[in-house]
Amino acid sequence: MNLRTYLAQHKALVEQRINEYLSADGMPANLHKSMAYSLNAGGKRIRPVLVFAGAEAVGGDIKRVMPLAVTLEMIHTFSLIHDDLPAMDDDDLRRGKPTNHKVFGEATAILAGDALLAEAFWILTKASPACAPALVLDVICDVAEASGARGMTGGQVFDMEATGKALTEAELENVHRHKTGKLLSVSVVGGAKLCGATDAQLKALSIYGAAIGLAFQIADDILDIEGTEEEIGKDVGSDVDAHKATYPAIIGIEAARIKERCLVDEAISALAIFDDKADPLREIAKYIVDRKT
Ligand code: IPE
Ligand code: IPE
Ligand code: MG
Ligand code: MG
Ligand code: MG
Repeated sequence: MNLRTYLAQHKALVEQRINEYLSADGMPANLHKSMAYSLNAGGKRIRPVLVFAGAEAVGGDIKRVMPLAVTLEMIHTFSLIHDDLPAMDDDDLRRGKPTNHKVFGEATAILAGDALLAEAFWILTKASPACAPALVLDVICDVAEASGARGMTGGQVFDMEATGKALTEAELENVHRHKTGKLLSVSVVGGAKLCGATDAQLKALSIYGAAIGLAFQIADDILDIEGTEEEIGKDVGSDVDAHKATYPAIIGIEAARIKERCLVDEAISALAIFDDKADPLREIAKYIVDRKT
């Protein structure tokens, strides 16, 4: 398979639907503008792609998981808007454009994030008639857990508490598994779950998701040092300036690279029970650490 084509096609599919789902109906115009600004600023759409690849790995239809794909991209975009705020990472550039608060002001940026989180669950609840209600409920519960205090939001708190501290590697791993790993993992597991995956398949996919989730954040930490502003669409060196706890800071860049390679191997090994329908997942695991953007 050709991963570049796969990523481009699946990215295009979700981008088309994001704007259909994000109707301005009944919303304050400026709030809608602010939500649409960050959602349409670009981005790799890796979480939606993982939803699709998870569905396909178990023989599912990607149309069925489109609402979940849009939901996860909205939650992720909310997390980025808030992550960039002056009270958090205080960044000025995101997806190659000025950050949301730079354009709309802090109050609107905070509210756009709030609204995206709520809108995401509205879409998942309203737009999944093709799936069994019990499965949708189960996935709503998983997504809530992965986004909230036990997942991404909790991870962001660990991240802030860790800033400027000399964490152990285990402590840093815990930060990264929460702030980034949980949402990536629920993408692939949720996509498969909505398509009727078996318990054994879900178990394998959650090992895969946790491994690529951690690898993804290690790669992000490395790109903060080695990437270019043009490629990553963010300010380079922002973690170093802010004394963030990152893999390069705690264990060094070479050890970080070894760690991410081990995680890719772990992720691919977890897929041994799947046939070639899981090849996109196998290729995505490698891409996550080889990417330049
Ligand atoms: C950036 O996520 C924040 C992290 C969780 C590392 P992405 O690298 O997926 O950002 P976009 O969506 O492509 O902009
Ligand atoms: C972000 O981690 C994780 C989120 C939950 C948004 P980072 O702070 O490293 O993400 P970037 O580098 O700003 O995209
Ligand atoms: Mg951050
Ligand atoms: Mg940040
Ligand atoms: Mg980063």
